[in-house]
Amino acid sequence: MPMTEAMTRDNIHEQLPKRDRMQLYNFVGRDIILWERNIGDDGDEIGKRVWPSAVDLCQFLQNGDFPMQDKKVLELGSGIGLVGIVASLLGADVTLTDLPNIVGNMEENVRANTREGCKYPPKVRPLVWGRNLNSIKGPKESFHYDYVIGTDVIYIEETFHDLSVTLRHFCDPRTTVLLGCHFRVRNRDLRFIELFKKDFDIVREHKIPGQGVNKVLFEARMKGWGDIDVQT
Ligand SMILES: C[S@@+](CC[C@H](N)C(=O)[O-])C[C@H]1O[C@@H](n2cnc3c(N)ncnc32)[C@H](O)[C@@H]1O
Repeated sequence: MPMTEAMTRDNIHEQLPKRDRMQLYNFVGRDIILWERNIGDDGDEIGKRVWPSAVDLCQFLQNGDFPMQDKKVLELGSGIGLVGIVASLLGADVTLTDLPNIVGNMEENVRANTREGCKYPPKVRPLVWGRNLNSIKGPKESFHYDYVIGTDVIYIEETFHDLSVTLRHFCDPRTTVLLGCHFRVRNRDLRFIELFKKDFDIVREHKIPGQGVNKVLFEARMKGWGDIDVQT
């Protein structure tokens, strides 16, 4: 566990970026303790805290809306790991991924919260969207995921193309894609949805209770694969 110097009046500006914060969640009857580490350095906090759509998706998972038992799940942009941890506790075989500088803290959180009660030990892997996609599971033909999921991953326009390439790579017609979205810059974020809809059919837009139109959970499947059995 990284140690930081005590914060004093003299070193506060140096120490603030290194501050850690513990967050407590309760899902599927388990307390989940997550460390948000080094929050505050250069505004690069994005992958170091839990975002609201993650909590929303965990609620759907806990409610049993998307059965997880024995399902193969790939999570993109997992951040500090809440969704992947909850999916693991629900019996899924989960691979959590994120940028190389984010996976260290995620891995600590994942290990600490899945030591007991998980049928499949979750895996944590670095993955930059659009880069070395075969490094996760080999060539596309050699694997199948029941779910590919991501929460609050639509927010940097420069990554939209790579994110859609990544979704295409890891999905097949039987994969359910779950994208938890909090539209903060609506026009920008909807441009991703338009791009996404070239390859995927949105099966359902699940409303988040009490959240109006700015938050939605998209359930989608890859299009163009003909009439197939899509039971998961
Ligand atoms: C807003 S955070 C959401 C984190 C987590 N899914 C949640 O909801 O709490 C977006 C995540 O996407 C990751 N991310 C951003 N760009 C990425 C890229 N090009 N490749 C892989 N991950 C990326 C960030 O590191 C971050 O963890």
